[in-house]
Amino acid sequence: MSMALFDTHAHYDARQFDPDRDQVLSALPGQGVELVVNPGCDLASSQAAVELAGRYPFVYAAVGVHPEECGSWTDGDLDALRALAGRPKVVAIGEIGLDYYWPENPSRELQKRVFRAQLALAVELNLPVIVHDREAHGDSLDIIREFPGARGVFHCFSGSAEMARELVSLGWMVSFTGVLTYKNARKAVEAAQAVPLERIMIETDSPYMAPVPYRGKRNHSGYVELVCVRLAELKGITPDECSRITLANGRSFFHIPD
Ligand code: NI
Repeated sequence: MSMALFDTHAHYDARQFDPDRDQVLSALPGQGVELVVNPGCDLASSQAAVELAGRYPFVYAAVGVHPEECGSWTDGDLDALRALAGRPKVVAIGEIGLDYYWPENPSRELQKRVFRAQLALAVELNLPVIVHDREAHGDSLDIIREFPGARGVFHCFSGSAEMARELVSLGWMVSFTGVLTYKNARKAVEAAQAVPLERIMIETDSPYMAPVPYRGKRNHSGYVELVCVRLAELKGITPDECSRITLANGRSFFHIPD
């Protein structure tokens, strides 16, 4: 049996794919990639994600404004996102959240306001959310608790095992990237071990976060197999079993029928 993999987070609208985007995407089904979700980071990239979903049967889109890109947010952006969310194959609002890592990022107050507005939109539209949380674990948890009607995933999960358990108890999911394969990935490994496989999805976060032995190179969804193999090892199951379960988890989370 060959693996059928779901890369739940990859940015094919990113400029790193400008030279050969179609070539990379067209090769994915031959590499065992059955599904990809391409999240947006601002309105233009959300629009691009919707267009890629229209072009490739195995690509689905999420639309949202990333915390690093929210500096020029206006309330009209929410209407633009609502309209984009109604386009075919849009399965989530994302990626949205908080990023306190970069000092040049928009202010924390603005990030929180934009995060809350998009969580409210997801609840209104009954769509799941894809959350980006970097160095903002406490505030991210506090804000999602304000929206008990929301459900979502913390992508490229970087919190503690305790936080992962807390998210699962709130009905949320966590997803892991190639970081799981890094030597210094102790925290992500502990988090992956702490939560049941049924609450885990896998992703590449392409073009970033390439797994070992491609660390530092441009990533693509074909390498999600390496994330799957590492997660299977941590869970004591076969890679085939891990791919089957994470594919089913992703289909169910994003409501993509078999
Ligand atoms: Ni991302």
